[in-house]
Amino acid sequence: MKLSTFSAIVIALCLAQGIPVKGGQMTQKKSGSAPTGIAKSVFGKTKEGITVELYTLTNSKGITAKIMTYGATVTELIVPDRNGKAGDVILGFANLDQYLAAQPYFGAIVGRVGNRIAKGRFQLNGVEYKLATNNGPNHLHGGLKGFDKVVWEAKPVASSEGPSIEFSYLSADGEEGYPGNLSCKVVYTLTEANELKIDYTATTDKPTPINLTNHAYFNLAGPGSGDILGHEMMLVAGRYTPVDDTLIPTGEIASVVGTPMDFTKPAKIGARIDKVKGGYDHNYVLDSGGSQTPVPAARVREAKTGRVMEVLTTQPGVQFYTGNFLDGTITGIGGVYKKQYGFCLETQHFPDSANHPNFPSAILKPGQTYRQTTIYKFFTE
Ligand code: GLA
Repeated sequence: MKLSTFSAIVIALCLAQGIPVKGGQMTQKKSGSAPTGIAKSVFGKTKEGITVELYTLTNSKGITAKIMTYGATVTELIVPDRNGKAGDVILGFANLDQYLAAQPYFGAIVGRVGNRIAKGRFQLNGVEYKLATNNGPNHLHGGLKGFDKVVWEAKPVASSEGPSIEFSYLSADGEEGYPGNLSCKVVYTLTEANELKIDYTATTDKPTPINLTNHAYFNLAGPGSGDILGHEMMLVAGRYTPVDDTLIPTGEIASVVGTPMDFTKPAKIGARIDKVKGGYDHNYVLDSGGSQTPVPAARVREAKTGRVMEVLTTQPGVQFYTGNFLDGTITGIGGVYKKQYGFCLETQHFPDSANHPNFPSAILKPGQTYRQTTIYKFFTE
């Protein structure tokens, strides 16, 4: 795209938001030296010829988040280290084609139901629903074409907290086998408090299971810096949901005390990982039990860069996944992505909730609004 076209789009966006325009960039608050706001560019085209847009959100503290309309995916998250040097903290690709190829949900929104549903089956109001089994015997992350593989509509929205973009997607009744037209909105806001805040809402016209989350793989030292086993992590979770060999919860809610699952005190991710078959890929039961407003769920610290990430959420669970299935076959920003080069903290309802009456319900009914908010907050020590 020609620069003049790009600038015109940026200016139009600014005017739409009532934000002053400066030199083809959008400026929100003049609280620092860096230009802040939102810029829009074209990231590429899908195989069907749909244009995929990339939005760049910048705050005055030097954080930049790049988010594209394909999968409402965060492609880059650039955060200063303790010396003020900015660097990416997630695994991603530099071009759309690599996102379109087989890859494990990098930075994407997953849904309609993120995580697994045993054998792709569940019952709701006496009707059995059959979904695709795209992960061994089970259904994973919404099926063959989940929310990570669709192009979302995007528009900047006004927010007093910082640059903010709303992504929306209407998942039709019957899509991937799920009941009900589900209207979803995901709003990303890059706040002046150095948070990437994600607000999810959805409504439906038939009862349906729903479990939306973001599947970013973090490496606080940068995507080209090796594995994440030296990161130190703490989870505000005294319990977890043990799983069978296909990673489906057994239904038990077990204490982490005295096991390698225990992160109630800060510990290196790699300290006990060899005692966990396959590596960590488990749902932790957050002590909050879920909440109306986001509360602390996790804190991860990387000693070399001094970067710290805190995760706050309204959700009752978080999937802690250590990138065990990365096998060095894909190359992205920073180089080859090998086993455990990134970790995910996917805030969520518990996996296979639809088949476990003792888990918090993940059913949305007509007239209700699904809400989840998760905040990834960054600072250095
Ligand atoms: C989730 C799952 C993992 C894996 C990844 C994608 O986090 O829990 O088992 O399937 O997605 O590879």
